[in-house]
Amino acid sequence: MCGIIGGITSDSIEKVLLDGLKYLEYRGYDSSGLALSENGKITVRKKTGKISVLKDELKKNPLKLAHIGIAHNRWATHGAPSEINAHPQLSYSNNIAIVHNGVIDNFAAIKSSLVAKGYEFRSETDTEVIADFLEEEKKQLGSLLLAIKRFFYIAKGSFALAILDQQEPDKIFFAKWRTPLLLGRGKGMNLLASDKIAFAPRIEEFYDVADGEYGYLQGDCISLFVYDKEIIKTPTFLPIDIKRSDIALGKYANYMEKEIDEGAFVIDKILREYTKDGKYKFDPELVSSLKNSEEVILIGSGSSYHAALLGCEYLLNAKLNAYAYIASEWAHYPRIRTKNPVFILLSQSGETADVLRSLDVIKNHRWPVISLVNIESSSLARRSNYVLPLFAGFEVAIVSTKTYICQVALLWLLANATMSNTAVIEELKKVGRAQRKVLSFKDAISNLAGKLVTQHDIYFIGRGLDYLLAREASLKFKEITYIHSEAFPAGELKHGPIALIEKGTPVIGFCSDETSYAHLMSNLEEAKARGGLIFFIGIRSGEVDEEKFTFASIDPQVNILIEIIYAQLLSYYATLRLGYDVDKPRNLAKSVTVE
Ligand code: AGP
Repeated sequence: MCGIIGGITSDSIEKVLLDGLKYLEYRGYDSSGLALSENGKITVRKKTGKISVLKDELKKNPLKLAHIGIAHNRWATHGAPSEINAHPQLSYSNNIAIVHNGVIDNFAAIKSSLVAKGYEFRSETDTEVIADFLEEEKKQLGSLLLAIKRFFYIAKGSFALAILDQQEPDKIFFAKWRTPLLLGRGKGMNLLASDKIAFAPRIEEFYDVADGEYGYLQGDCISLFVYDKEIIKTPTFLPIDIKRSDIALGKYANYMEKEIDEGAFVIDKILREYTKDGKYKFDPELVSSLKNSEEVILIGSGSSYHAALLGCEYLLNAKLNAYAYIASEWAHYPRIRTKNPVFILLSQSGETADVLRSLDVIKNHRWPVISLVNIESSSLARRSNYVLPLFAGFEVAIVSTKTYICQVALLWLLANATMSNTAVIEELKKVGRAQRKVLSFKDAISNLAGKLVTQHDIYFIGRGLDYLLAREASLKFKEITYIHSEAFPAGELKHGPIALIEKGTPVIGFCSDETSYAHLMSNLEEAKARGGLIFFIGIRSGEVDEEKFTFASIDPQVNILIEIIYAQLLSYYATLRLGYDVDKPRNLAKSVTVE
């Protein structure tokens, strides 16, 4: 996923662009760049690395004052992170500068037709192909606006575009298909961005550009069209509904620790939003669509998939026919067992391409979709039949922490709502209190993390729900420490993976259910007998003589929500000790809008 910001201001646009890029950095930070348009000339600056590198460059070699500009930060899809592949990309004549978020699936075919017309390419990006397509179509059709309209008919994939044209220097053109783009109106400025937070403090109202819409900003006017309709659309602007303080770091040094701490309070938020006086507040139609479903299919990616696995178990316990799938798998190999499935799609961002691809398949069959999303204006939310917001607040750190907890807690409530079991509401309140208690063990958890950072392989094991939790713990660990880790069902260790255990190999066992305690202990002993370094996180004191963190059982179904706080903090402290960036780990983006 990449970040786009652009605009026309009565003041300097450069500051607006750089400030916006800082708040879009969570979307990608392989490279960044900007293009300014002044006195009919477009000037481009771009650098690999984080936004600070571009800022330093502009300090060293400042650009002239400009009032119109576009900017971009990149998470590489086509072509390595490099200056030549950074955005803005210029067309062959250098007349058109373009920034793009999304992926053009058929860019190779478009590129070869342009090569046949004599175009030469400097970068490996699909974005440069768009620039040259527009240049060529503009020659044929006589205007960039018509060229953009034509692009909707030719391109396959997704795109949010902001475009400057040296021959129409007082405009910023834009177009949107399947990846977010918002317009913002403020005092003496009109802006556009991939995410409200990029322009929040400067604008008073915003408009969420819909798929198929395009147009341009010019002075204080905004012109909006729909590619397949001969209409000029009047956008309905809404008052901006977020503030920069929503993502202020406050007393924290980084977002990950802030969001782990917040994660110990989000259950209370979920309970406030979805229950009242010990009763559920779900839409009764939603609950009955689940209760009377022939099958329920849960789909997600990464941490959202791990939450889906737990939700699947909760729904099976509610006697529902539930299955959980990885989005990128189901999208291409859709497994359906009955004629009337109900879908639950989980996505923090609501923009994950794999999930949206699955959604395409589902919508083609007109099957009902319930989505659990954190961003209510996201593509997934807008295309779902029911939306259950996570209410986690902005999650800026790349790794999912508090949103995973919201997803699991919400799925547990939903499953129990189908059984009209309200007793669990009290249980969940207790879990929130127990989570907050874990925050007081940060020093001890950091000490445990210190024993892991010199290792090359770490194994997380558990039985039942603890195995599903171990999968999330392992993902958390590997994606920010860059240390290889894997999760196994504890009972499976002896059927092969135990060959990996050698002297000092850390094996971390989770146990949230009394019924699996004895067997888990013997699995840990098996690892220990081969030199493994054993750690235990769970509901009993455990006989292991290494580090252990124990807590009082609340409910075997949701004790894992206490364990996850330990797991998140373990990864966090290990990463700090390694000196890596806990908020922006290498190669990752907050939402992967490419397949
Ligand atoms: C997990 O820490 C990662 N951030 C990643 O696996 C993430 O959960 C996945 O990309 C899905 O994102 P989504 O919830 O926004 O769809």
